[in-house]
Amino acid sequence: MTQNYRITLLPGDGIGPEIIAVAVDVLKVAGKKFDLQFEFTKALIGGAAIDAAGEPLPANTLDTCRQSDSVLLAAIGGYKWDSLPSNMRPEAGLLGLRAGLDLFANLRPAKILPQLIDSSTLKPEVVEGVDIMVVRELTGGIYFGKPKGVFTTETEEKRGVNTMVYTESEIDRIGKVAFETAQKRGGRLCSVDKANVLEVSQLWRDRITKVGGEYPDVELSHLYVDNAAMQLVRTPKQFDTIVTGNLFGDILSDAAAMLTGSIGMLPSASLGASGPGVYEPVHGSAPDIAGQDKANPLAQVLSAAMMLRYGLNQPEAAKHIEEGVLQVLEQGYRTGDIMSANMNILGCKAMGEVLIQTLETI
Ligand code: IPM
Ligand code: MG
Repeated sequence: MTQNYRITLLPGDGIGPEIIAVAVDVLKVAGKKFDLQFEFTKALIGGAAIDAAGEPLPANTLDTCRQSDSVLLAAIGGYKWDSLPSNMRPEAGLLGLRAGLDLFANLRPAKILPQLIDSSTLKPEVVEGVDIMVVRELTGGIYFGKPKGVFTTETEEKRGVNTMVYTESEIDRIGKVAFETAQKRGGRLCSVDKANVLEVSQLWRDRITKVGGEYPDVELSHLYVDNAAMQLVRTPKQFDTIVTGNLFGDILSDAAAMLTGSIGMLPSASLGASGPGVYEPVHGSAPDIAGQDKANPLAQVLSAAMMLRYGLNQPEAAKHIEEGVLQVLEQGYRTGDIMSANMNILGCKAMGEVLIQTLETI
């Protein structure tokens, strides 16, 4: 029987529309093979929404997302909107979407593909076999803590404030997701904090340790964030699953991504306790190459595969797409960001086309 799914597409800005078009084509092809029917609805977010509707997350975008089974997002932001006040910037749309759908758990895998080992800036022996999952808390911490803002003091000096805050329940729920993720992977979880300085991190460490009591099969360790950043580039293979707060996770997931050679290859999933998740590439909107057919659509395609696996419970279709991506790389096709000697360079559209041809043959 055909399964029907309602998917909200949020192309956003920059290279967003180009890469999401490839992912949609790929989903349609996979849908044929696995008897899945997708009903796609496009909605506005980020700079595109600011231009068309005067705000980065119009209410009907959030409604459309809530009514769908899953949300596929490309990327937001660009130079054009950089000087707007922070609550009107494209980024505010993304944060509003995360908060509005209560997507507290962000899964960011960083796995090195053997075909791309030479694209990493680190030595092959350091990155070979790297397979890390960063579980980032996404709706709390310093991104959302109050007070926040730029205030004027009694002496007429400006004072900028953000607050890093976590409650026990916020830590516990991300902790559970992280332990369960580690259980399905290598069984090791490293919690990253700054408990030598920050009280909020001391609470974080206590609660994660407590939650760990319920997962005796997972080996828990703790690192301070500065050390974790260093260890990630020194011996990344020591990590299996990492759990951390919003800000540290933002930073460490970019570093972990780059171990694999290109941030242009990495997908992510943002999940709540229930309701639709948001699936998006880890990379940004790359305004410098927007509209030039140079973008790498594979992180977006792999985000669609994550959507099939985690959001729609279609692991076979997800595997099929992932296998197609590997085969395309195996055949020597590359976009500019992952180009190396003797490979065939393709634009965004052409990469989509060879991927679809490949998917039709496997
Ligand atoms: C990310 C991005 C966002 C973040 C920005 C665009 C708001 O860097 O998803 O990692 O900081 O979370
Ligand atoms: Mg980031």
